[in-house]
Amino acid sequence: MISASVDRLDAWDKVTGRAVYAADRGPDGLLLAFALRATVGRGAIKAIDVAAARGMPGIAAIVTHENAGEFGWLSDSDADALSAEMLGRSALNDPATQLPMYRPLCGAEILFAGQWVAVVVATTIEFARAALAAIVIDYEEWQPDETAPILPGPFFAGDMQYVRGAPCNGSDVASSVCETYATPMQLHQPMEPSATTAVWDDGGVTLYDSTQGVHAVRNYVARSLRVQPDRVRVIAPFVGGGFGAKNQVWPHQALAAHLARHLGRPVRMQLTRADMAVASGYRTETSQEIALQANSQGHLKLLRHVSHVPTSLRGGFFEPCGLNSLMLYEAERVEVSHLVTRRSVATPTPFRAPGETPGSFALETALDELASNLRMDPLQLRIRNHASRDPYHDRPWSSNNLLQCYTQGAERFGWPGRFIEPRSMTRDGRLIGYGMATTAYPAPALAAAVRLSTDGPRRLLLETSATDIGTGMRTILAQTVADQLLIDVSTVEIRHGDSNLPEAPTAGRSKSTASVLPAVVDGCRALLDELDRLVPARTAGGNEGFYERLEIAGAPRLVSEGRSDGAPTDRNLSFYSFGAHFAEVEVDEAIGQIRVRRFVSAFDCGRIVNHKLAASQILGGITFGIGMALLEESNRHPSSLRVLADNLADYAIPVNADMPDIEVLFIEEPDNSLNALGARGLGEIGLPGVAAAIGNALFNATGRRHRSLPIPLSAQHAN
Ligand code: MOS
Repeated sequence: MISASVDRLDAWDKVTGRAVYAADRGPDGLLLAFALRATVGRGAIKAIDVAAARGMPGIAAIVTHENAGEFGWLSDSDADALSAEMLGRSALNDPATQLPMYRPLCGAEILFAGQWVAVVVATTIEFARAALAAIVIDYEEWQPDETAPILPGPFFAGDMQYVRGAPCNGSDVASSVCETYATPMQLHQPMEPSATTAVWDDGGVTLYDSTQGVHAVRNYVARSLRVQPDRVRVIAPFVGGGFGAKNQVWPHQALAAHLARHLGRPVRMQLTRADMAVASGYRTETSQEIALQANSQGHLKLLRHVSHVPTSLRGGFFEPCGLNSLMLYEAERVEVSHLVTRRSVATPTPFRAPGETPGSFALETALDELASNLRMDPLQLRIRNHASRDPYHDRPWSSNNLLQCYTQGAERFGWPGRFIEPRSMTRDGRLIGYGMATTAYPAPALAAAVRLSTDGPRRLLLETSATDIGTGMRTILAQTVADQLLIDVSTVEIRHGDSNLPEAPTAGRSKSTASVLPAVVDGCRALLDELDRLVPARTAGGNEGFYERLEIAGAPRLVSEGRSDGAPTDRNLSFYSFGAHFAEVEVDEAIGQIRVRRFVSAFDCGRIVNHKLAASQILGGITFGIGMALLEESNRHPSSLRVLADNLADYAIPVNADMPDIEVLFIEEPDNSLNALGARGLGEIGLPGVAAAIGNALFNATGRRHRSLPIPLSAQHAN
C-alpha cells in the first residue's frame, strides 16, 4: 500500500458537494456575523454612529470598540496580556512573534487600512450587509508609519544575521553579480474563505472551523473566552485550502465564540474575499540584494543575500528570504541578513514555503545571471556548488539526492547540458527559452498521537486531530493502516480534524506526513501485539489475515494508542527535501505573449507514500509558481495603504489554459534516519524555484532579465 497511487478517499464527497465545510453548517437559530473594514490607513475613530444600523431589520447585535467589553471581547491590554501569557514572555516588540497580537474592536486606534471597526450580527447576509453600510464613522487620519529597520535574531529555525567563511579578497574572481530582486505582496486565495460557526451547548462551545490546526484554535479560543480548553471543541473535517492563511489563529475564530455566548444563539463569522486580504494574513512584498562572486570554473567565492522585508505595527511575521542561502550551496563566504521595517499594514503570515519562495526567486535568478556571465551551463553551475554536507548546520544530510534530481530531471526534460545563447532557439516564429532552478525545504516532524480501534468484524477506525487541507492526509493515513495491518484500504475509516481526537500538529511547514504516519505505525504495531496475544499467528495457521484472526479471537473490540515524539532516529543529521525545476517558455514578441510550454521537476522527498497525491501536491506548487512568475500581485494605494487587488477579479491566478505539460519525477530513497517509513513532507517544496526557472527561461528566450515579479507580459514586446 505504501507508494500505491490510491485515489483521494474524499474526492467524490468533494466533487459532488457532499463534503460539509465550516460555512455549510446551519444550526437552528443561526446568526451571521460580518465585519466592517476601516477606510483609512492610520488614525483613530473620532465618532462611530450605529443608531441607524441598529434599527434596521434582522439585526441581532452590533459590536464596536465602544461596547466590545459587553461581549466578553478582550480589551487591548487584556489581549496583550493574553498573548504575552501564551508566549511565556512579553513579545510585543519581538519580530519572531507569530501570534496575531493585534485584535480588532479593542480601541479607537486604526493601525492599518481594512482593520475591522465593527461587526454586525444579523439573521441574513443581506440584513448584515445593509446594516454595515449604514454605520457612519468619523475618522481622524494620521500619516502611515514606517519604522527604522530592525535586525531580527533567529527566526523560523534559521539565523537572520549570519556570516560563514573568510572575506573574499577579490583574487581569482572571474565574474560577479550584484543585483536587487523584488517580489510583490501576494494573497493565499484558498478556494474556501475562512469561516467559523460557533455553537454553545451546556457551558461549552463547538467551533465548525476552517483551519490547518484544530488544537491550536482550541487552545487560543479557550484562553480568549477564559474557559478550560476542554470546553472548546474545534471541528474541521474538510478544509478548502489553507497555504498558511489558516495556519495561525485569527480574530474571527474567537469572535464567533464570544458573539454566540453573548447572544445565546449559534453565530457564524464568515470572511469575504476582501476580508481574506487583511484579516487572515498574506505574503509581504520583498526587496532582496544578492551579490555573487565566482572563479572561472563557477565555484562560488561569495554569496551575499540581504533581504528588506516589512511587517505590521503589531504581530511580526516577516519573510525569512535567506533560508535557502544559508544551506543550499557550498560557497567560500556566505553572508545572510534581514532588515525588517514595521509599517501600518495588516499582519502578514506564513504562505507556502515562507522565506524560500521569494528568496529562491532572488538567489536562483542571480545564479542564472552568474552562469550567463561565465557563459556556463546554469545546471553545471549548481552542480559545481553542490553542498555534499549541510554547510550551515555543519552536519551530514540524512539523505540528499539533489544531484540525481538534476541529472534525471535534465534527462527527462532534454536539457542541452551546455550554455545556450539567448534568442538562439525559435519555433514557428516564436522564441523558445529553457531555464532551471533548485528548490529545497526542511523536513521537520513534531509529536503526534492517533487511536486505532476495530469497529465490527471487518472495519478499522483511525482517529487523529490531523487536518487534511487538500494535501491527501486522510488518504495516506488509511494507506498506512492498510499497509501495516495488511488489510484492504476500503475497510479503513478515518475520523480526523477534531480537537477531541488524539492530538496531531497543525498542518504546516510540510510536517504532517513525517509527524503523523510514524504514530500510525506505532498504533498498528500495538494492535498487532494485542491480536498476537489473543491469537498467536502460528496457531492460526499463519495464512489468516488480520480480520480472520480477529474473527478466530471472537471479534473482540481492540483499541490501541499510537504515538510518535517527532524526534528523528538520528539527531546528528540534517533533514531537508530537494528538487530541481526545468522550464520551457515560448514568447511571441509581436503580441507580447508568454506561454510556459513544458515543466519537468524532479524531487527527493524520501519515500513517497502515494505517488498520485504527491505528484498532485507538486503540481499545485508549480501552478502557484507560474502564477507568481507571471500573474499574481496585490498592491496598496500609495497614500492610504489600502489593499487594492483584494478580490479575484483584480488578483489574477493561473487557469487551466495557462498550464503547460507538467511532469513530476521522484527520486525515491527512503530517509530511514527520519522515521520508520522514510517519508519526508512535500507540502511546500514544489513552489520555491518555479518563478526563477520561468524567469531564467524568459531570459534565455529573449535576452531580457526580469528581476521583479510578476513579469509583465508587455515586457516581452519587441522594442
Ligand atoms: Mo504553511 S505556509 O507552513 O501553512
